[in-house]
Amino acid sequence: MKKNIAILSGDGIGPEVTQQAVKCLDAAAEVFGHEFTYHEGLVGAVAIDATGNPFPEATEKICRESDAILFGAIGHPKYDNDPAAKVRPEQGLLSMRKKLGLFANVRPVTSYDKLLPISPLKESIIKGTDFVVFRELTGGIYFGEPRGRSENGETAFDTCVYSKHEITRIAHLAFKAAQNRQKRLTLVDKANVLATSRLWRETVKEIAQDYPEVSLDFMFVDNAAMKIIQNPKHFDVVLTENMFGDIITDEASVIAGSLGLLPSASLGTEQHLFEPIHGSYPEVAGQNKANPLGAILSAAMLLEYAFELHEEAALIRAAVQQSLDEGYGTEDIIKEGKIQTTTAVGDRIAAIIKEKKAINA
Ligand code: IPM
Ligand code: MN
Repeated sequence: MKKNIAILSGDGIGPEVTQQAVKCLDAAAEVFGHEFTYHEGLVGAVAIDATGNPFPEATEKICRESDAILFGAIGHPKYDNDPAAKVRPEQGLLSMRKKLGLFANVRPVTSYDKLLPISPLKESIIKGTDFVVFRELTGGIYFGEPRGRSENGETAFDTCVYSKHEITRIAHLAFKAAQNRQKRLTLVDKANVLATSRLWRETVKEIAQDYPEVSLDFMFVDNAAMKIIQNPKHFDVVLTENMFGDIITDEASVIAGSLGLLPSASLGTEQHLFEPIHGSYPEVAGQNKANPLGAILSAAMLLEYAFELHEEAALIRAAVQQSLDEGYGTEDIIKEGKIQTTTAVGDRIAAIIKEKKAINA
């Protein structure tokens, strides 16, 4: 299979972790005889520095012309403490999601046996966790209008808006995923307070009739925030709106052991983008210390969702698993034993991918 992949490394640790993901894609391509061609584009603070725009047109073009997009991270501290900044790196990510119509962000949360001891949560609670969050990505308070400041600057406002159409399209994806899993779907909302949440409930209830074998339950987001760490095995598929999904998936990463471990797929009408859920982590950028597993597992999701290369994706996941079992890992997940660099972890996983082929042959 010949495919074009857009590489948007972005800021901070983005480039170094994305490089490891590409290494693993290349290893899988070699094993299975595929040809991936990469096209690099600027996004985020690096794009602002070069062009003034966090998501330049040239990058958008690369994305549209590619078969899938691999994205690293976005954000730079020089903007974080400057509320007056006119352009912000994060706008690049948000406008990329909006312009490319990437409406469904799929974030799997699993626990790894080898990493159980590093989570602050009890092993008995997190062992065997396996759920997936479907986070709506192009609506809600992230994009609703009006937003801004009153004339005297003393009041600020954001607007949360959802249409039935936006809810329906992601709900179908979540129900379909549930059908292929444990057949349980939890809608996380705040229907006791928010009108948008009540529309979510109403719409999702209607759609549930098309999926009689999936059992549907509802949970208020504050309660869900508690349940996720109290009894994560309750969950199979979680469906939720943009902001709630952002918050509960960072929380859920504690179950896996590190924010650096979680991958995601952002599915759109024409394009799909794949990104680790972590940010640009500027504190360690350029130091070869960042965890590349979120990026590598995002590459596995890319193969699966964008190209339907299931065996290839499974091989990458198995290689990640094996590297953890062997004790490989960056400083965020290694509490005992030798801490490895970002590149060493990437090299080992790429090598295992190639070795596994040798075993299979
Ligand atoms: C994420 C990030 C982004 C978000 C930021 C960087 C805008 O936290 O992808 O989860 O809030 O969606
Ligand atoms: Mn986030």
